[in-house]
Amino acid sequence: MIRVLSVASECAPLVKTGGLADVAGALPGALAGEGVEMRTLLPGYPAVMAAIEAGAETVWTAPRLFGGPARLLLARAAGLTLYPLDAPHLFAREGRLYLGPDGADWPDNPERFAALSRVAAEIAEGAPAGWAPQVLHLHDWQAGLAAPYLHDRRLAGRVGSLFTVHNIAFQGLAPAGRLSALELRNEGFAAEGFEYWGQISALKAGLVYADRVSTVSPTYAAELTRPEFGMGLDGVLRARGTDFSGILNGIDLAAWTPPYKTPRGKARHTRALRAELGLPDAPGPLCVVISRLTSQKGLDILLAALPRLLDEGGQLALLGTGEPVLERAFRSAAAADPRVSATIGYDEAFARRLVAGGEAILVPSRFEPCGLTQLYGLRHGTVPLVAYTGGLVDTVIPATAAGLAAGVATGLQVYPITPDGLSRGFTQLCALYRDRPTWERMMRNAMAHPVGWEASAPRYASLFAEIVASKAAR
Ligand code: ADP
Ligand code: GLC
Repeated sequence: MIRVLSVASECAPLVKTGGLADVAGALPGALAGEGVEMRTLLPGYPAVMAAIEAGAETVWTAPRLFGGPARLLLARAAGLTLYPLDAPHLFAREGRLYLGPDGADWPDNPERFAALSRVAAEIAEGAPAGWAPQVLHLHDWQAGLAAPYLHDRRLAGRVGSLFTVHNIAFQGLAPAGRLSALELRNEGFAAEGFEYWGQISALKAGLVYADRVSTVSPTYAAELTRPEFGMGLDGVLRARGTDFSGILNGIDLAAWTPPYKTPRGKARHTRALRAELGLPDAPGPLCVVISRLTSQKGLDILLAALPRLLDEGGQLALLGTGEPVLERAFRSAAAADPRVSATIGYDEAFARRLVAGGEAILVPSRFEPCGLTQLYGLRHGTVPLVAYTGGLVDTVIPATAAGLAAGVATGLQVYPITPDGLSRGFTQLCALYRDRPTWERMMRNAMAHPVGWEASAPRYASLFAEIVASKAAR
């Protein structure tokens, strides 16, 4: 068994703002059959502390960790083996994980996640006793500083690291003046270290100092090495050469099982969803969206193309939260037309009803490292219409003339993601929907498409094994 410590700022089903939580929550189970024993280091947010099962033990304490006392627990919760970092001054806060009540980042986010990363290095160093990880699996900027901390403590020759980029847009920046507060060495503050245009970047620290770097789909991996997608870090990733790769996300099949076995079984759920939302019957597909409302997701473009979907007989039901301007825009679109429904909020159970009852699922992102909702859609025969970008390219077989002729299409890919491009996509979607045999074929193909971890879990396992072997060879 290879011992891997996963370091994540969120983990489903305990705490979640997006897909990172699903992946961090699913990997330990998916890797258990692949010879990897994965434990998870997680901030002790109130929801995490409340979920811990009886029998947890304190395995490490610090009188002062970035401004206050902290202790590390070894605990079980939701089927996972966890190291919750109980540091009330950093994590015992109501509200959202990364944002204060005013909707802005918590001002001490750099310290909060530096603390998490520092404790990852403590665990690598041998505290707590009894379980020494061979590899740290670091997720996104919140875990990035663990990579230089390993080097500073001269542990990098013994304990390996994999840094996984879920989203390059979140960079974990801090002003240069916080170097010593973050317990970072001045030498690292350089172009070939974690310096990013005059600031400290926890993301870049992970990209530069980890043994290997991965992201969550092969296409996004290729995109990240280009200036249009790399957000200034494409050169760093090009320099990593073959140390950088893309491993496609899967979903937890048990957690996302459709309540029907064949395409025909969906109709009842579509009727129930329309009834729940007060949507009239329609000649076109009931399209659903479950998303953070941010510019990444292209939902402003969706609004611009919405008239075409409605003209073609389609409908829209959206669930999301995020930028106030988008929340307002979707609320008014719903108020203006009975064929549009917008639910502003975060609701797992409703998300499932949308996936089961929806006939198509829309993901018109400007960029998308992997995307999970199109995978839920595939599994439920909810035909995905996605942007031709990132992991969306790797997960949907498009209804091109050739894909249709071969009978293999599972959805639609739209390029470019502009109001015109998306409008054309809606016209094609609705035409396919009217062609029942073709549509049902796509639903069947979608439901049969593998979306679990069966292909990717062995890839992670071999990457961890390579990292361990490279340390043993030193
Ligand atoms: P990202 O991580 O960029 O937000 P993903 O598609 O990878 O995008 O993952 C988003 C996850 O969050 C999915 O599991 C999706 O169902 C869930 N989600 C997003 N918004 C909501 C919401 N408002 N209510 C419930 N679940 C949501
Ligand atoms: C990020 C990305 C999303 C990906 C998720 C899980 O939040 O935006 O595309 O699916 O992480 O890896």
